[in-house]
Amino acid sequence: MDNIRNIVILTGAGVSAESGVATFRGPDGLWEGHRVEDVATPGAFVTDPHLVQKFYDERRAKLKTVKPNAAHEALAWLDAEWKGELLLVTQNVDDLHDRAGSRRLVHMHGELNSAWCLACDARMPWAGTLLDFPDCPECGQKYLRPDIVWFGEMPYYMERIEAALAVCDLFVSIGTSGAVYPAAGFVQTARACGAKTLEINLDPSEGSHLFDESRQGPAGTLVPEWVARLLQD
Ligand code: OAD
Repeated sequence: MDNIRNIVILTGAGVSAESGVATFRGPDGLWEGHRVEDVATPGAFVTDPHLVQKFYDERRAKLKTVKPNAAHEALAWLDAEWKGELLLVTQNVDDLHDRAGSRRLVHMHGELNSAWCLACDARMPWAGTLLDFPDCPECGQKYLRPDIVWFGEMPYYMERIEAALAVCDLFVSIGTSGAVYPAAGFVQTARACGAKTLEINLDPSEGSHLFDESRQGPAGTLVPEWVARLLQD
């Protein structure tokens, strides 16, 4: 660990599971009772905008009932203490990393607490509902959608993420199944650039074999242990 200065951390739904936020790929293959294609594609929004808005309104409302767990808090502690470069890339659309205090953070799949106007292209913080198709505060039109990256759309911050991966010494993946690209490919990019790689997940992910080390267990226990050790070293 002596030679580690630049760190990139990728998190997925597993890091928020112990806060009570549902993961995507549960045993029934559904996400909170819906097929992904019915709520997480641009086509779904065209076919049934009411269903899609209602689904994300419910997820947004649920944020008020959950709070960061020990894994989010440990990563915020690492962010505050780590003197080298650090980038926390989350696939999660919840705000638990933000609320825990992480600052060097990007939401590559968007955020529940943000709305995007398809008429004027403005993005804005949004805490309320969208099912009622409210006016856009910028242009007055009624074309607001959740600011979430759906399947078939380009994830956010890719240039910044690729640049951080190119110079990182350590890449850590936490609580993600490794089923969705481009995030699932970050481990290979980091390895190709010479980084050490560590996975922390409840069970082996689809890409476990790509990591130098894979630790299995709950993020709320393993992440604080890993952070404490890293800062101690
Ligand atoms: P998944 O639901 O696919 O995977 C969550 C992973 O977390 C699984 O491998 C679980 O074993 C693991 N896990 C569950 N509880 C855990 C715990 N307490 N500690 C550690 N690990 C735990 O979620 P993601 O990999 O985040 O994209 O899904 C990636 C993307 O697919 C999402 O961002 C979303 C989705 O479709 C978009 O919406 C674009």
